[in-house]
Amino acid sequence: VNRQVIMQRRPDGVPLETDLAVIDCEEANLNSGDVLCQSQWFSLDPYLRSVMGGRHMSGKLEVGDVIPGGVLARVIQSDTSDFVKGDWVLTHGFYERFCKPADQLQKLDMQIDSPSHYLGVLGMPGLTAWAGITQLAKVQAGDAVLISAALGPVGATAGQIAKALGARVIGIAGGPAKCAAVMQHYGFDACIDYKADDFTAQLKSATLKGIDVYFDNVGGRVLEAALQNLALGARVILCGLMDQYNQAERPAGPNLGPVIGARAHLMGLVVYDFFPRMEEFRAYALDLMRAGKLRALEDVSLGIEQTPAAFVRLMRGENFGKVLVKLT
Ligand SMILES: NC(=O)c1ccc[n+]([C@@H]2O[C@H](COP(=O)([O-])OP(=O)(O)OC[C@H]3O[C@@H](n4cnc5c(N)ncnc54)[C@H](OP(=O)(O)O)[C@@H]3O)[C@@H](O)[C@H]2O)c1
Repeated sequence: VNRQVIMQRRPDGVPLETDLAVIDCEEANLNSGDVLCQSQWFSLDPYLRSVMGGRHMSGKLEVGDVIPGGVLARVIQSDTSDFVKGDWVLTHGFYERFCKPADQLQKLDMQIDSPSHYLGVLGMPGLTAWAGITQLAKVQAGDAVLISAALGPVGATAGQIAKALGARVIGIAGGPAKCAAVMQHYGFDACIDYKADDFTAQLKSATLKGIDVYFDNVGGRVLEAALQNLALGARVILCGLMDQYNQAERPAGPNLGPVIGARAHLMGLVVYDFFPRMEEFRAYALDLMRAGKLRALEDVSLGIEQTPAAFVRLMRGENFGKVLVKLT
């Protein structure tokens, strides 16, 4: 029996497992000119919450629609010369097996032993990090770089790239265990727990000379605190808003007075703008990996039926690295 993951109910606040459902669906058969694939890994990413809430730029989901998350799959059968059995492909849509035209599949040149990294550190989240650090903020040796949601695939990759460029890198994460992992596993110079009572004091003392680059993945009071510690001419990359994805109403923004004082530059980042440069990014990231300068923690659940729980854990901030579901 083939299965799919659908939105069963539009989430209200923090998603519940019952907002998603794993249900039987029609068996996928090879159509003329198309490619039949078996999913191996599903990628759970925060933007899916916005898609489910009907406020993401990639489109709106209706109840009953399949969750359009990233999928790493292998070709079972092909009726086009572009693909052969065994090829690794990236696509979207949480089905166990599916048949698609070749132009909806991205063939991967699998260069490492961990295929799932192509959904994280070598995929969309990694590209986001690379774009923010190297293309927008243009991090230089000696910069003080602050990164929130530092244990996730975007934050951790951004921090490691900044370290490789010679920056001093400070992370922000929730809780002592995550902060310890950010420093020990990813080599950040410091990591501050935004849930600690003295968070703002700790942030101030960790960034005494001011922050040259702030890579913001969360918004809210963490962004507000970071803006209080900017160096002159700081660059602020606005990448994500974890603080508000689960809220129905958009909160009022932070006080932007410190941005004026610091003559800072705020830059919005949309990863889609950089998709044409994916291969350039992957070559860069693979070089760093081979040099031992880029690592990736994964938070893996086993079996398609675990997909709703994995998504809920991500949106509750309970994940410890890139959230993935392994299907086979
Ligand atoms: N602009 C783009 O094109 C683009 C592309 C990809 C991703 N993004 C964004 O990048 C961000 C990180 O994505 P990711 O895949 O790497 O996710 P992730 O870091 O694995 O997961 C998000 C983390 O955010 C933290 N968090 C949740 N609520 C928070 C709050 N109120 N304040 C501070 N931290 C909070 C949680 O960890 P704690 O335990 O630390 O709270 C959670 O684990 C997301 O905002 C995502 O939407 C943007």
